[in-house]
Formats: sequence, C-alpha cells, structure tokens
Amino acid sequence: MGSLNYDAFKLIFLMILLTSINGTALPNQNPKSNSTQINSNSVLVALLDSHYTELSELVEKALLLQTLEQTVSHHNITIFAPNNEALERQMDPEFKRFLLEPGNLKSLQNLLLFHIIPSRVGSKEWPSEDVGAAARHQTLCVDEADNHLPLTRGTSGEKIVGGLAKVTRPDDVIRPDGLIHGIERLLVPRSVQEDFNRRRSLRSISAVLPEGAPVVDPRTHRLKKPAAPVPAGAPPVVAEEADGSVKFGQGEGSAYLFDPDIYTDGRISVQGIDGVLLPVETPATKISPATAPKIVAKQRRGKLLEVACSFAGAFGRFTSCN
Ligand SMILES: *[C@@H]1O[C@H](CO)[C@@H](O)[C@H](O)[C@H]1NC(C)=O
Ligand SMILES: *[C@@H]1O[C@H](CO)[C@@H](O)[C@H](O)[C@H]1NC(C)=O
Repeated sequence: MGSLNYDAFKLIFLMILLTSINGTALPNQNPKSNSTQINSNSVLVALLDSHYTELSELVEKALLLQTLEQTVSHHNITIFAPNNEALERQMDPEFKRFLLEPGNLKSLQNLLLFHIIPSRVGSKEWPSEDVGAAARHQTLCVDEADNHLPLTRGTSGEKIVGGLAKVTRPDDVIRPDGLIHGIERLLVPRSVQEDFNRRRSLRSISAVLPEGAPVVDPRTHRLKKPAAPVPAGAPPVVAEEADGSVKFGQGEGSAYLFDPDIYTDGRISVQGIDGVLLPVETPATKISPATAPKIVAKQRRGKLLEVACSFAGAFGRFTSCN
C-alpha cells in the first residue's frame, strides 16, 4: 500500500516534470528550444527513485529539476549525494530551517548545486592513491567564488570529496547521462555558510563543513569570543580590565558585561550587563525626555559583590544582597 502510493507519487511527479518541460517549450514555438526531453533512463529520474530520499526532496523543494534537466541534456553529471543520515540527524536543525525558509531559496539551490559536477567521474576516474594526487572539479554552483571540489584519497585509500566527505557508496547509481556517489556528509559552500552567518550566530554548523576547503570564516571565531562591541547609542567607552572583565561606560554610569553575545547577527549585538549605562556628562548636552535613560537607583553593583551575592544566594544564607 505504502509503496503503491509512493510509486503513484513518483509517477505524478514525473508527469509534472514532463509537463513543465513541454509547458515551457510550446508557448514560444521556438524550434531551437528543443533541448530537453527527459529520458526515463536519466540519472535525474534515478535520483528521484533512489534511497537518497532526503536529497531528492531538497532538490525538488529547491525547484532545481528544470535546471538539472537542461544540464544533463548537454553534459554528463556526477552527483555526490549525502545519505539520509547526513541530511536528517547530522544536520544542524537551525541550518536546515534556514535552508527551508522561502527567502533563502538561493542558498538552498547553491548548496545542492555544489554537490554536482558537470562531467562524469566514476570511481575508476578517481585520482590514484599516489601522494599529492588530486583533481579539482568545477561544480554547478556558479555563485560560489571558489567553485571547485577537490577529489582526493584518504590515508587508507578511501575516496574523499571536498576535503572531508568520504565516499561511502562509489558508483551507487550509474546511468548513461551521469552517476551518483553516496557520501557521508553534506558539503557546505562558503557563500551559503556566509548567508547563514549573516542571520545567525554560528555555532554548530562548523561540524558539517569540509575541512580541506578553506571554508571556516574568521568571523565565526570572532562571534564565538565574548567580544564586546559598543551597543548602538551607548556611551562610547568599552574597556577590558586586567582581570578580563569587560566594562561599558564610565564612572557611576558604567556596567560590567556578564552575559556576552545573547544575540548577534552582524548588525545587532545584544550584551547582558549588570547595571544601567548613564551618558557621560558634558556641560552642553541636553537630554530630551524621550531619550533620557531611566535611572534605576544604584542598581550598579560591584562585580565582586555580585559574585558574592549569587554565591551566598546559592546557599540561602543572606538576604541582604538586594
Ligand atoms: C535541436 O535544435 C537544433 C538547432 O537549434 C538542431 O540542430 C538539433 O538537431 C535539434 N535536436 C533535436 C533532437 O531535435
Ligand atoms: C555521457 O557519457 C557517456 C559515457 O561516457 C557518453 O557516451 C555520452 O556521450 C555522454 N553524454 C553527454 C551528453 O556528454
């Protein structure tokens, strides 16, 4: 029953696919636009039919089939297909959510196109195990500045793509217009990682990046450090003190950083501080009521005192801290 439904789904899907080709070819009546007629023996049909169901689904969601049909009408393709495990359990859920947001369609497309090269590289064509033997292949991800995937060998001869992903099922699917190698993890092009970074502070994604490629954005490290950029509109003094604590503001109107990087996205940075910042007094400054900060009386506490309080509070002995 389930498999019948699945077959029916595939058939409908294939029909939609064919309809879409005819649909685009017919209206303009251009005899030159005869290029695409998908062959049922195509590697694309095989992909949709394969056990790489997560990847197929993403290709479909990314609206990439038509692009790929055009590609296979001119070239053989080689697809490095992350297995379902890599796309389900090993993928950072936040990254996956990001990719599936409609506004990030381009990122999803680029991510997927980075797994496909427009030539046929079977396991027999893989670089040998000689030291230093490697091949670099351009991918279909044309938006990527370094749009190449290195194909290499690991220490025990295993085939490696993108410097990190092991080929777990070489030549898994072979068709006249291309083939599919199963790989153990996702390859993330730098441009997509940057798109993601721009919106999120990056923590877990580094786990799925290819090590061999220089894809670790230095900004990543900066985000991880408890850097203390000046919040917009804050008094301009931020000082790191000898003990490593970070102080905002001056004198009575200052506060210590105690919860760094609650939220950062490149433009906005939210830092937790332990007091109320007061503007540095200058004689000519007139503070309008709308912008004057409320003075929460003497909330500013010494750092040591705060530590002492929370420590004592943990034992429930003192109530005098507040
Ligand atoms: C497609 O059109 C080109 C000319 O644009 C022609 O040379 C070629 O033979 C056509 N192919 C098919 C399969 O009709
Ligand atoms: C794809 O590869 C096969 C086998 O190498 C070859 O016969 C065929 O012409 C290629 N197709 C295209 C479109 O290059």
